[in-house]
Amino acid sequence: MGVVASAPAKVILFGEHFVVYGEPAIVLAIDKRAYATVENREDKRLYIRSTNLNLAGYFDNGTFKIEQGDVKEAKSKFEPVKLAINKVAEKYGESVGLNVEIYSTVPVAAGLGSSAAVAAAVAAAVGELLNVKMAKEDILRVAFEAEKTVHGTPSGIDPAIATFGGTLFFQTDTGFKPLEVHMDMPLIIGNTGIERSTRLQVEKVRNLREKHPRIVDHIMWAAREIVLRAIDALKENDLETLGELMNINHALLYGVGVSDESLEWLISAARKEGALGAKLTGAGGGGCMIALTKDERLEQVLGAIQRAGGRGFVARKTNEGVKIEQR
Ligand code: MEV
Repeated sequence: MGVVASAPAKVILFGEHFVVYGEPAIVLAIDKRAYATVENREDKRLYIRSTNLNLAGYFDNGTFKIEQGDVKEAKSKFEPVKLAINKVAEKYGESVGLNVEIYSTVPVAAGLGSSAAVAAAVAAAVGELLNVKMAKEDILRVAFEAEKTVHGTPSGIDPAIATFGGTLFFQTDTGFKPLEVHMDMPLIIGNTGIERSTRLQVEKVRNLREKHPRIVDHIMWAAREIVLRAIDALKENDLETLGELMNINHALLYGVGVSDESLEWLISAARKEGALGAKLTGAGGGGCMIALTKDERLEQVLGAIQRAGGRGFVARKTNEGVKIEQR
């Protein structure tokens, strides 16, 4: 058994998309994790297996050979993993051969930060195996580089939360700071099951902004006010206000074109069943929505999301960022 590391998935409570343009966002780590197990090999090959995606293959001197699953899918999923490993190996000083096994409980391409969680877990596990000193900031840097190969121009919010966990106030120019959230926030996640590309959703917003800069900028400024108001509501344990703010935030995301029919079904089902607020989370265009409810409505809202066709589950926030599980 080699080294095992893990990192959490996330939900963006407020501010996705607008965060790419320098506006603030609030993100929290949830109790679903990606795990990476790594061990040395005698040769210089890099074997990667994803048990939940049923993909396996290896990189040998720059060429990729598939062993299980679709070659295109495997390459696109494994390239960022390889990049993360190479970045750590650079610090180590020479190229290495490794067996890497990835197991993730995070739905893929659903807006929950699965690729960033995988990259952070892999970077931490490889650093530990090779005895390369990796501070959390180093893991963040590596995971961010990996994320750029997946998403084009990401804000860095996903690798930041996967690395540090907790609840973060995040802004691209000022970085992030932890928010102390003491209340229990009963959140339900509804997965539409529709996989989508974050890169395409971000491009969609960019195109709209180029076409209607003054309108989209006003939408972004409204999103900023939502985040600032939400910080107070979090401090005051004010669930009702948080719910309202989620609904307004969703309307803004709808306005810039990143909701879709599958999300709207789940969101309106949750609201009808008494959710205090509901919105898409992450990049949209499918993927996941979140609903905030009072504890006593949890079961009903979850049931409504499931009846509307979503894969629903209750998410709990976690303070645990990336960590070594076993060495
Ligand atoms: C993706 O989880 C969130 C987006 O805002 C993109 C990003 O911030 O990199 C859509």
